[in-house]
Amino acid sequence: MIFEADYSKAGGAIRAISHFRCNLKRLYGVLHDPRSWGVTEFPRLTIAKENSKLVYSFAGLERATITLESWNSEFSEIEIVVEGAKDQAARNKQIQYWSSVIKELRHRLASSDLVVASAPAKINLFFAVGAFLKDGYHEVASLYQALALREQLSIETAGRNSVEFCGQYRSWAEQSVPKDQSNLVFIAQKALGEYSAELSYTKLSFLIKKSVPIAGGMAGGSADAAAALLAIDGRFELGLGSKLEEIAAALGSDVPFSLRGGTAQGLGRGEVLSPIETSGTLHFVITPNPVGLSTPLVYKQLDLMRIEEGIDVSALAPPTLPSALLRAVAESNPLALAPLMSNDLERATLRLRPELRQVLDAGEEAGALRSMISGSGPSIVHLAKNRTDAELIAERLRRASFDSIVSYSSASGSRLES
Ligand code: C5P
Repeated sequence: MIFEADYSKAGGAIRAISHFRCNLKRLYGVLHDPRSWGVTEFPRLTIAKENSKLVYSFAGLERATITLESWNSEFSEIEIVVEGAKDQAARNKQIQYWSSVIKELRHRLASSDLVVASAPAKINLFFAVGAFLKDGYHEVASLYQALALREQLSIETAGRNSVEFCGQYRSWAEQSVPKDQSNLVFIAQKALGEYSAELSYTKLSFLIKKSVPIAGGMAGGSADAAAALLAIDGRFELGLGSKLEEIAAALGSDVPFSLRGGTAQGLGRGEVLSPIETSGTLHFVITPNPVGLSTPLVYKQLDLMRIEEGIDVSALAPPTLPSALLRAVAESNPLALAPLMSNDLERATLRLRPELRQVLDAGEEAGALRSMISGSGPSIVHLAKNRTDAELIAERLRRASFDSIVSYSSASGSRLES
């Protein structure tokens, strides 16, 4: 179980997730009864919302909220958020406490061997498109930023290969993400089969919790591929380490970044990464759009517009990232960053989907420092000055009928969660 800072809350909150092979009701029953946990110290249960939420208070000022969510009838997830710890020592004590409780409960609920990997959504704070290359790709210069918003995926060995979806974007995925061998998770499985005889004849069932908008320019599919690589590497003890990044590049231009996360410059097709150290957290609002966009179509539209303007699209100079932009992101300075954010694909996306202009305008009217299409779109990213502003902007956008999510920059890449 991995605890990390929860910047969606004020004052040093931390959060972690864990997974159990049982239904929500059973898990709720166990969590509802701290005396049954098999640990010597237990908190006081102060709020209990049936099958969905439990709040515990400790002798200090710490408060832990466990939110339960079912992936399906036999697979459940919990999120633990700890607030009110007065210092790092108190936070560490909570981390130790919950880690031992959850280990014990996972053991008791036959869940210790579950393999769940997660990978972050990305946005592009800057995206410059250069020459159209002979291999059908474009040379790009991207400033990638990973978000706290993550895709999650579990794998189990099975009688046949299969993929199922759950989570917020489940029905959307059912309509538009392939379940056959063309799904990136199977391509990842096949690519790793070369490194393990056992894997090459083992069938896997994937369960993907879709939390990143589909075909939205936020690398949700690439995140699934990255999480699949990591889950398989972990489950079959392949120990591929940095070799995974090379394998990831063959799966898609954004997959290496989905593995690595954090903040990075991406050159080449976007897969040649250089990490950027940052000193703080940036807060964003994302407005997804229920109608996805095809990335190749957006690139093609940009080329057409450039050709109309008399530009030779195969002779463009290699794009680069401005140094002022790199400084602003390294300092996590939203005011300096906002005017430097730019996306060459934006005008092509807007030509294909002119109605998105309304969302861009609504974002800036709602107080965003900058509203911009993320990657090829149609998701729109709004940069906020801070966490409170992000909440406010999201609320105003929702009131204007643009459903929006709040998230923040994350230093994490793909990881095994359970
Ligand atoms: O690499 P990925 O499979 O995500 O790319 C999808 C499509 O997007 C490519 O087939 C190509 O048409 C376009 N693309 C591009 N230049 C890039 C990345 C993607 O033209 N640097």
